[in-house]
Amino acid sequence: MDESRHPFLEGLSKHRGVPPTVAVIFGASGDLTARKLLPAIYNLGVDNLLPNEFHLIGFGRKPITDESFRDNMESAILEHSRRRIKGEIWQRVRANMTYNSSEYQDIDGYKALARKIDLLENKLGRKVQRIFYISTPPSVFEQIIESLGESGLAQANSNSPLASKVIIEKPFGRDLESANNLNNLINKVFQESQVFRIDHYLGKETVQDLLVQRFANAIFEPIWNREYIDCVQITVAEKLGVGNRGGYYDGSGALRDMVQNHTMQLVALTAMEPPLSLDPESIRDEKVKVIRSIQPLNLIGDNSDVVRAQYKEGLIDGEKARAYIDEDGIPKDSNTETYAALRLMINNWRWKGVPFYIRSGKRMALRTSEIVIRFKKPPGILFSGEKHFNVSDNTMVIHIQPNEGITLVMNSKVPGLETRMQPVKMHFSYATTFGSNTPEAYERLILDAMIGDSTLFIRGDETEASWKLLSPLLSFWEERGKEELKSYSAGSWGPSISDSLLAQKMHEWRN
Ligand code: BG6
Repeated sequence: MDESRHPFLEGLSKHRGVPPTVAVIFGASGDLTARKLLPAIYNLGVDNLLPNEFHLIGFGRKPITDESFRDNMESAILEHSRRRIKGEIWQRVRANMTYNSSEYQDIDGYKALARKIDLLENKLGRKVQRIFYISTPPSVFEQIIESLGESGLAQANSNSPLASKVIIEKPFGRDLESANNLNNLINKVFQESQVFRIDHYLGKETVQDLLVQRFANAIFEPIWNREYIDCVQITVAEKLGVGNRGGYYDGSGALRDMVQNHTMQLVALTAMEPPLSLDPESIRDEKVKVIRSIQPLNLIGDNSDVVRAQYKEGLIDGEKARAYIDEDGIPKDSNTETYAALRLMINNWRWKGVPFYIRSGKRMALRTSEIVIRFKKPPGILFSGEKHFNVSDNTMVIHIQPNEGITLVMNSKVPGLETRMQPVKMHFSYATTFGSNTPEAYERLILDAMIGDSTLFIRGDETEASWKLLSPLLSFWEERGKEELKSYSAGSWGPSISDSLLAQKMHEWRN
């Protein structure tokens, strides 16, 4: 397909107004910069969405030269970009890339950065927009934000179209208290409109499409409530283990790494009320409201809403996979969960009584992220009683990834002289309809931040609302230690006790 005619890109024409920009990436020698950020920036260049004056400054502790930074980034793009490197476009991006090395606590490093940007502005004879992308380990987030303020780099003046912006990677806090502290600090240096908290799930096409499916179609919304929906299941499962991120992951666990952010965003977009308009604040208002409506979790007893587990050894695609505690960088006595499942009850008019089951885990049977809407059965008056009237639940499965698409499952008569029925599927596939080379989440997110559109970013009160729900659970798990930690075999669908979580209300996971 001719890339310039891709429907998504056509829809983006409003974005072609990125002002002259200097983007500083903190953590520039890290993995995320190489795997995601630089390939995304390069692809924006290919789509002609970068301004003519686009300058990139890598900032990191590693002492490397401008030239080797450029070489490293070139290799990263060769390895990770969805499109092949094109000489002229890459040369333009590459020529405007430099590197500053400094310890994160050294204010002189930030002053040197400020001088570099001033010099650049003098040379250009105009001011540029400053984007600060914080992609470091969370231990230095505070240090960087404070130093951006102290060195004058932040230039908090949110009224100007060139107002600087800060993009912050996850994890945003470890619990309610630390997230609040981080928010307070950020709000001293930047106005909320300048802050872009990343959750890369929001940049995924299928996640953005949730709003379109729900609110641009007349057929779903009337039945999207407790009258018709029996339960909702959200699964974010990975086949991979912790790889070389053991050090980070062991201090985090599935609840902090995936549930508090990615999974809760899927809950919010599935359950929120229609926003007043498509402006960022209207959408984010509705997301916060729904997260705030979630009932506090039951933590103990038969009625507990939570399951926590860690993988032991098992088989993935027929190959032996080691236990979590045998992975590199993981202590043998680790008490970190690699799987979490929760039952959420949303206490509002639309959802009262409808369980939202969510689960996320590493080393599971499949890599799949999906939202399953299970509808109530019709009144059992007509097709009941006989064994060939086996009425299945109607379900709608939104395949977030992979095999992006939507499947509707309904009952149909099997052709023949007697009346028998069978569940059949209606399927929409993004790849078949739109082609498969769609923009990566980070392309959309970086572009949106550069034009100041915060719709796909998390507002401060949203992070606080989800930490408020989950912090008591984290403290409870911490107190109980291994007592609450179950195990599951690598390559399975998680611990059997997570089936009981659903069985209590006669539900079953869709595996
Ligand atoms: C990251 C988590 O936020 O998301 C990782 O830190 C996880 O542990 C990743 O593997 C999953 O993202 P995706 O886009 O591959 O589903």
